[in-house]
Amino acid sequence: MTQPNSASTFDFRQAVIGADQPVTLLDGSSVPYLNLDNAASTPALRAVKDALDAALPWYSSVHRGSGFKSLLSTELYEQARRIVLDFVGADPAGDCVMFSKNTTEAINHLARIYPFRPGDQVLTTGLEHHSNDLPWRARTEVLHAAVLANGALDLDDFEAKLAGSAGRVKLVAVSGASNVTGYLPPIHDLAELAHRHGARIMVDCAQLLPHRQICMGPIDTPRRLDFIAFSAHKVYAPFGSGGLVGPAAFFDQLEPDDRGGGTVEMVTLSEVTWTGAPERDEAGSPNVLGALALAAALRFLGEFGMDAVAAHEAELTAYALRRLPRVPGLHLYGLTDPDSAAQRLGVIPFTMSGLAHGQVAAVLGFEAGIGVRDGCFCAHPYILRLLGVTNEEYQAYHQRVLNHNRADLPGLVRMSFGCYNTLADVDRFAAALEAIAAGDFHGDYIVHPRSGSYYPRGFDPSAALAQFSLI
Ligand code: ALA
Repeated sequence: MTQPNSASTFDFRQAVIGADQPVTLLDGSSVPYLNLDNAASTPALRAVKDALDAALPWYSSVHRGSGFKSLLSTELYEQARRIVLDFVGADPAGDCVMFSKNTTEAINHLARIYPFRPGDQVLTTGLEHHSNDLPWRARTEVLHAAVLANGALDLDDFEAKLAGSAGRVKLVAVSGASNVTGYLPPIHDLAELAHRHGARIMVDCAQLLPHRQICMGPIDTPRRLDFIAFSAHKVYAPFGSGGLVGPAAFFDQLEPDDRGGGTVEMVTLSEVTWTGAPERDEAGSPNVLGALALAAALRFLGEFGMDAVAAHEAELTAYALRRLPRVPGLHLYGLTDPDSAAQRLGVIPFTMSGLAHGQVAAVLGFEAGIGVRDGCFCAHPYILRLLGVTNEEYQAYHQRVLNHNRADLPGLVRMSFGCYNTLADVDRFAAALEAIAAGDFHGDYIVHPRSGSYYPRGFDPSAALAQFSLI
């Protein structure tokens, strides 16, 4: 198995699968693909594939079978829980992890079972991914702490909303790191505030987990993160798993929302006795291999060292924040100070004068072999705030979307680093943007109104992709 020995000598690029996979460009030439869309999903680590290759011959059902493979699979699944809890600094005496398919499912699960009473409120923020906003709206009244023009949380407004709620806020639900700007809310300070006002805190760690050491802390301590949720596909283990961590005693008091196999101790035709957490919240056969993949990735990152990950990504981010403003017409959003790169993640949103975000992303993909994401990144309120879209403008866009016209909606282009990216990747990216700014691209890009995507005229995505048959 490929494991890092020392962060200073280890070549992380060799540790991920497909980092420089050749791709064909619009002119028929081929270049190594450059993935700068790690905030969406990261490539798989070789160590994760090796761990799955080793586990597959032994794979079987967990928790129920009597055969050796079942016993071993159960043991490995439970080991995966311990690795996850250890990695996030959970309380070994009281926390449990329930595996989910991703962060969204984990947060929805917590929202569905959370014991809200009429009048209770959730305090979230204006910078959230929809997955840490909409699940709460479905359950109870939600307050949104304001966001400043630079994309940072308005901490005064956060505290004012908490204090003003007079104890009605029962839960603070906040992102650990923004998937749009890389902004890092001061989660432990927010935890302390939440606890002082009688609320618990849930941190959406989807973006944070791959980039920073998380330390939930001991249960019932002031700066503790009470619950966290995360996805494996953002942490180099794209095999369909994620997790929710929190105190087992909390989950044990609640009714599970998904009910069925694995969730019970005893059932008669008239009575059910639920089993304890985390099994009571994992109905049905779990994604054993997904859990092992997640654990293998975390073990790898732990050995590499999260401080080394953060330091490398801060160097990339500082370099990009110095290099990108030299691209004519490029406008950065959010926090743009290179000297503060270590206080944010390497998630960098921008626009280019005179070009739609979708067009920039398409030219990068078709003519430079570079993958980024453009649009609103499942965080519409935050993007509207960053772009300063007025309510009248929003209403006009809304009407267009209702009429199935998504052409040129507001949005940004986003580059986002993984720890296998290099300074040379930044140079290649900046050179591609400079070519775009100079009009040095060949396709005639047209927008497809229904999807809002840009393609070169004459390009048929279905025909182009139909040549590939991977299975
Ligand atoms: N939420 C993921 C992103 O920001 C998918 O791209």
